[in-house]
Amino acid sequence: MILESKDLLGIDELKKEEIENILSYADKMLACVEGRKNLDNLKGKCVATLFYENSTRTRVSFQNAALFLGAHTVALEEAGSSILKGESLVDTVSTLKSLNVDAVAIRHPMSGAVHYAARNTDIPIINAGDGAHEHPTQALLDALTVKRRFGGFKGLKLVIAGDIKHSRVARSNILLFNKMGADVTVCAPLSLMPDGIEDMGCRVVTDLDQALKGANAVMALRIQFERQKSGFVPSLKEYSAFYRIGTEQLSKADKNAILMHPAPINRGIEITGSAADCDRSVICSQITSGLAVRMAVLDILVRRI
Ligand code: CP
Repeated sequence: MILESKDLLGIDELKKEEIENILSYADKMLACVEGRKNLDNLKGKCVATLFYENSTRTRVSFQNAALFLGAHTVALEEAGSSILKGESLVDTVSTLKSLNVDAVAIRHPMSGAVHYAARNTDIPIINAGDGAHEHPTQALLDALTVKRRFGGFKGLKLVIAGDIKHSRVARSNILLFNKMGADVTVCAPLSLMPDGIEDMGCRVVTDLDQALKGANAVMALRIQFERQKSGFVPSLKEYSAFYRIGTEQLSKADKNAILMHPAPINRGIEITGSAADCDRSVICSQITSGLAVRMAVLDILVRRI
């Protein structure tokens, strides 16, 4: 079996070999996606998305991944569901299982909510983002994008710049790229840097130009206003003056460096429009890689292959 666990809850729980095997399988799925070839691996199965937070990419790609594998899909959100009548997360998952759902991708604002759901059901649970904790399929799709471009991870220099403090994407990527032998640097003002982040095995730099020197992959992150209880930067204008990634900042990186962003992007704040649209930007490729990764993860977990 590719994955030991019945669930995909975080990169932290994965062994290096499991990540390699998911990426190899996702690479095959990406060839199907690029060739617009649909599969019937999950014919007769049903996959649900259960989202307690807003999403475009993750929700649509899980739904399309299931459809492109021949499964049916159910999309449940707080609005319009009995969650608003007080139904618990575990009771909602149990209801979906009773309705013949075979796997549930959950996005939840509370860190650990997906672990709680997974412990209380025997169907696969996939973490589609839990609070500021982890977003494992995002890190896997970022890794697939990098692997496709550079062939591997050993010695590759990844710089993650932006709101590290509130970012589940940063956490999952630090864990994944470290496990795969890359060298990870995080860059933000100290107010957006979580205490003890260096214990995760990354270099902490507050100066953007210094961080970008020699980088092979640069990942910009938006400021997660929805997770902030108070203002962590005195003004957005000032933040952008020091931390926005434009083509000029990108020129400090390696000449073959790629520019990544999990999106949604806030043009003009953490990234300029010209950088987002330049030929080094792989933001659209990341989104397509996400479809392939989610196809791979659904197939692996539902069929226990
Ligand atoms: N990158 C990402 O998770 O995007 P969505 O919030 O639109 O799903």
